[in-house]
Amino acid sequence: MLAQQTIDTIKSTVPVLEVHGLAITKTFYSNLFRENPELLNIFNHTNQKKDRQQTALANTVYAAAVHIDHLEAIVPAVVQIAHKHVSLGILPEHYPIVGKYLLEAIKEVLGDAATDEIIDAWGKAYGVIADVFISVEEDLYKAAENAGGWRAFKEFTIAEVVEESEAVKSFYLKPANGEKLPAFKAGQFITLRTQVPGEQYLMNRQYTLTDGSEDYFRISVKREDDVTPNGIVSNFLHNAEIGTKVDVSAPAGVFTLVENDSPVLFISGGVGVTPLQGMLKIIEGRQASFIQCARNENVAAFKETIEENVAATDGKYKAVYSDIDGYITKAQIEEFLVPGTEVYVCGPTVFMETVIQYLVELGVPAEKIHYEFFGAAMALQIK
Ligand code: HEM
Repeated sequence: MLAQQTIDTIKSTVPVLEVHGLAITKTFYSNLFRENPELLNIFNHTNQKKDRQQTALANTVYAAAVHIDHLEAIVPAVVQIAHKHVSLGILPEHYPIVGKYLLEAIKEVLGDAATDEIIDAWGKAYGVIADVFISVEEDLYKAAENAGGWRAFKEFTIAEVVEESEAVKSFYLKPANGEKLPAFKAGQFITLRTQVPGEQYLMNRQYTLTDGSEDYFRISVKREDDVTPNGIVSNFLHNAEIGTKVDVSAPAGVFTLVENDSPVLFISGGVGVTPLQGMLKIIEGRQASFIQCARNENVAAFKETIEENVAATDGKYKAVYSDIDGYITKAQIEEFLVPGTEVYVCGPTVFMETVIQYLVELGVPAEKIHYEFFGAAMALQIK
């Protein structure tokens, strides 16, 4: 337990740190990687370049600090991040390193304003927050192992490649040692880690499992046109030969289908279709409809399978092609809503924000709107 004085110091300094949030985390990352370059084998360099991870970590620490005297409030949000962490093989020993550089960055950016009392309070708070993450992550590692999964990475082989659309290919990945694979839930993801020729560090990317069995995992990857730095891994995969070895984590992730009797509406934007088409496949005894947004028909991956699966549940399907129809509208969504509908949304951030806003305006209760933001998830959920 933290002393009341420490809690008061933390709460009174959160607004100051928020103002300098990005500066602090930029300083933090640049010092962290300069002195611990091996960590670049874990972090996604594209996210670093776009400040995505910087913002996510900063927001999360501050959002958690606001709840420092009732940390149970942050556990649901921690669980989502913890799934990402375990899929990357993050371990308890990584936390003190991050803590050390975070405190040093606070000192560096705030200068004289960062008194010993403030630094001491944040050191303690970070310790308490880190312990929550460590314990949630240890539970996840144990649960994965008990379910036939593994910690960190296992070597897999690209066994088959199938073209799904102009931009998306599916990759069938099989364990190199022939071992059987654990079950996973539709919507879960794996981290794929690989050494791309010409790159100094290992690259990690999360991909939704679009299909699988005890013999293989399938991921479906969109080739990013923007080769540097966005598409390094997607281009590597799209050009990879059968037999190429990659490292794969055990399945993780909390964006999965809530099983009940309510009708379901899936709304996907672009490659956000991947987790939703997986959830659609396991729908049983309830009506499922689907609005698939894509640039045009050539890049609408899984369209035919989705149409077939939707029809089998007596649901409706609509494609919204931005090249022809423009973006999805509130009226289009309204047509697909029936009383009690549970809605699952996945796509680029702006797409999700717009669709979620429409759903709220259409009176869909918050607990019936399911989505997973990539990035600063925690700040969004608990602020
Ligand atoms: C991702 C917070 C500690 C490595 C994230 C995300 C958040 C976050 C909010 C984004 C989640 C998402 O994309 O869904 C935190 C907090 C920490 C902490 C609050 C401390 C209490 C660590 C540690 C490491 C680490 C100790 C390892 C050295 C990563 C990596 C990602 C990530 C590699 C994936 C994003 C990327 O590659 O850019 N973390 N984290 N984190 N975290 Fe942490």
